[in-house]
This record gives sequence, C-alpha cells and structure tokens, in this order.
Amino acid sequence: MSDLLQRASAVLSPVIGHYTSLEVKSGSGCYLYGLDDTAYLDLAAGIAVTATGHCHPKVVEAIQAQAATLIHACIGIVYYEPPIRLAEKLGELLGADLTSVFFCQSGTEAIEASMKLAKYVTKKSKLLVFSGGFHGRTLGALSLTTSKEKYRENYEPLIPGIKVLPYPNLYRHSSADSATAERQYIADLEAYFSTLDDDIAAVVIEPMLGEGGYVSAPAAFLQKLESLCRQKNILVILDEIQTGFGRTGHWFMFQEAGLKPDIIALAKGIASGMPLGACVARKALMEQWTTGSHGGTYGSNPVTCAAALASIDVVGDCLPGISELGEYALTFLKAALKDHPYVGDIRGKGLMIGIELVSDRITKEPHTALLKTVLSEALARQVIVISCGVFDNVIRIMPPLIITKPELTDGLTVITEVLNAHC
Ligand SMILES: Cc1ncc(COP(=O)(O)O)c(C=O)c1O
Repeated sequence: MSDLLQRASAVLSPVIGHYTSLEVKSGSGCYLYGLDDTAYLDLAAGIAVTATGHCHPKVVEAIQAQAATLIHACIGIVYYEPPIRLAEKLGELLGADLTSVFFCQSGTEAIEASMKLAKYVTKKSKLLVFSGGFHGRTLGALSLTTSKEKYRENYEPLIPGIKVLPYPNLYRHSSADSATAERQYIADLEAYFSTLDDDIAAVVIEPMLGEGGYVSAPAAFLQKLESLCRQKNILVILDEIQTGFGRTGHWFMFQEAGLKPDIIALAKGIASGMPLGACVARKALMEQWTTGSHGGTYGSNPVTCAAALASIDVVGDCLPGISELGEYALTFLKAALKDHPYVGDIRGKGLMIGIELVSDRITKEPHTALLKTVLSEALARQVIVISCGVFDNVIRIMPPLIITKPELTDGLTVITEVLNAHC
C-alpha cells in the first residue's frame, strides 16, 4: 500500500467510498497529475464539479484576490458584495423570476433549504419525489433519495410524508418504443395526481437523474408535471445540482424544456470546486420565509462567491459549444460501440453522457462486473471515468466543460477501445 492510501486509512473515516486508489498532487485544465507526474485525463471532474477544469487561472486569481481582501465575516452580521453580485448574476442567468437566493455550502444543504422553504410557506407536510433520485445525504435530503438502498440503510425512519413516483426511464420501460413509454408515464402521472390529497407541499425532481444513471425525463413529462402541480397548488422544486451551470448545454436544463420552477437547488459546477450551494426562488415566495427560520454561519462566503462569479464567466465562454461537443461524443460512442453485445443504451445531453452496460440486450440485466473492469482498465490508460446508476452499471462521462474536441476524442477513444476488448 502506498503512503497516502496508508495514511488516509489510518485517519480518514472509512465511510467515504472511493472510485479509485489513485494518488494525485495537482490538477490543471482537464488533467490531474499523479505523484510521479503522470497526467490523467479527468472525465469525472470531481463528480461534475470542476466545470472550468482544475485551477483555471481566472478562478484562481479571483479566489486569491478575494482571500486577500475578506475571507469571512458572516452575512448575518455585516453586508459585503460578492454574494450580492453573485445573486444578481444568478437571477439573470436563471430568468423565470428566480431572483431571490439563499446561499449554503453544498448540494444537500441546497435541498434542505428548498424543502424547508416549501414546507414553511405552504404549511403543508408531504413531498413527492421520483425513483432513482439522488438529492443528498443529510437526513432531510436523504429522505428524498432513492438511488441506492445502501444510502438509507440503518437511517430509517427518515422524515415522514415522502411519496416516491416512478421516474420516466424510457430505456427500462416495458414498452418497446419510447413514444409509447413516454405516453404511459404521462398517463400514469395524471392518474396519480387525480388521487392526491391537499397536503402536498412540493414535488422535487432532477430533470436528468445524475447518480441514478444519467436518465433524462422527457420535456413533455416535465411540462405535464409542472402543469399538474399548478392545478393542485403544489410547488415545483428542481434539483439542478448536477445538470446546472452549462452541463447539459444550457445554463440550466429546465430552460430547454421551457419550465417555470418555483424553487431551484444548485451546487457542484457553480464554483469550480469551492464549496457553494444555493436555493433560489421567486421573491414573493422567499419573502414568506420568516427571518431567522433558516440560516447558517458560512453561507454567502465571499471567497466561494468570488470563485462562482469567475467560474460563470469561464463557463459562459464555452457554453455555445457544449451541445455540439455532446452531440459529437454521442455520435462517436454510438459508431464505435455499434453492435457491442453489452452496451444497452448510450444517452445524454451536453457533457453529461451515460453508457449503460447490460449482460443481455434483451433482458437488460445490469452488467456491473464489466463496468468495474472498464473503469479500472481506463484508469490504467490514464483516463479517469466513474460510474452511476441504480444498478451501478452506467459509465458516466462528465468532463470539465472547457474540454477541447481532441481531449474529448482521446478519452472516448480509450473508453471505446477498452469496451471493445470485452465483446
Ligand atoms: C442531483 C444532486 N443533488 C444533490 C446532490 C448532493 O450534493 P452534495 O454532495 O454537494 O451534498 C448531488 C450530489 O451528487 C446531486 O448530484
């Protein structure tokens, strides 16, 4: 066992899972560097976080300048500019009247805040969520998370009043064609809503499942969900913690479907790896959240907000090319893996791409063993790629958004060559 691994296992809690045992010392652009200076192409981006790549000079400069000016004073005590400027910027990027921001440090806290806001203002107790969703690991957010049973084991009972509906997974629906599957999911949703009682505060949904397997909800399903919620006075909370900030080719995925969520939870790609989350809502809704009924010491930290403002500038520059890069990647993968007996589905939007592995393309039995082999063989060829999916059988490709076409081609070439060696 090498030094870092050995020291880590002596002092760091084993509760943290590890995709690899790779030891790194630095990062730059799309690459992480091992202790011996080996360069690894990073297609995991710290789990969809380092949208601007590692240590982007503009982000580093913003962090250094802010750290030399003011690191912390607490927004509950005094006012300072970076969170205000960032909230103004978020309002511009989000549109849809989402102009009032509560900042926190992580995705799970953004979800906690969103749940608490919805319950507080509606004075209702129940929430609707979708199967395979991952919304975080604190006890409130965990109550909404169903992507893996392991996450919930030994923590029950969680908060009551959570109803889990089927996520529209066209690939895994029993119907052979996706148009029929989509219609069926929408009909089932309508039927379910007709039975609802009046005590539902909000629905919480990821427009594309992240941890749950990179499965996109069809736009028509999301639109129907939103209109059913309007009819029943139920708030719509979108979890765009993974899909947000350009990842799927738009600033936010809901914009492509033309939705008007009441609340949106953000984190991950927002600040290039600095710990920042946000719960954003319409001002009229936020104004009903009584002062002091939620809060935190570190929210609105000036350094994380400065990093976010710089990250937004950098992502804004590459945003116009992301959909095209994503289309290129899908075309590349579909051509290279055509007829592969264990590739069940290749899907995604922008730079959020999944390859679902199955041991039989008819029965769609998940092929987790192959997935593990592929990840470790890709790593041996200096490409970092990780998995997702409720069955842990989906290769997830989520590089930094600054990735160039040649870099992406290198990564996809390794993944497809490794897969094609296992036919
Ligand atoms: C969609 C989604 N929601 C919530 C979270 C939780 O975020 P965090 O790990 O920052 O608490 C994640 C993290 O993977 C996520 O992907």
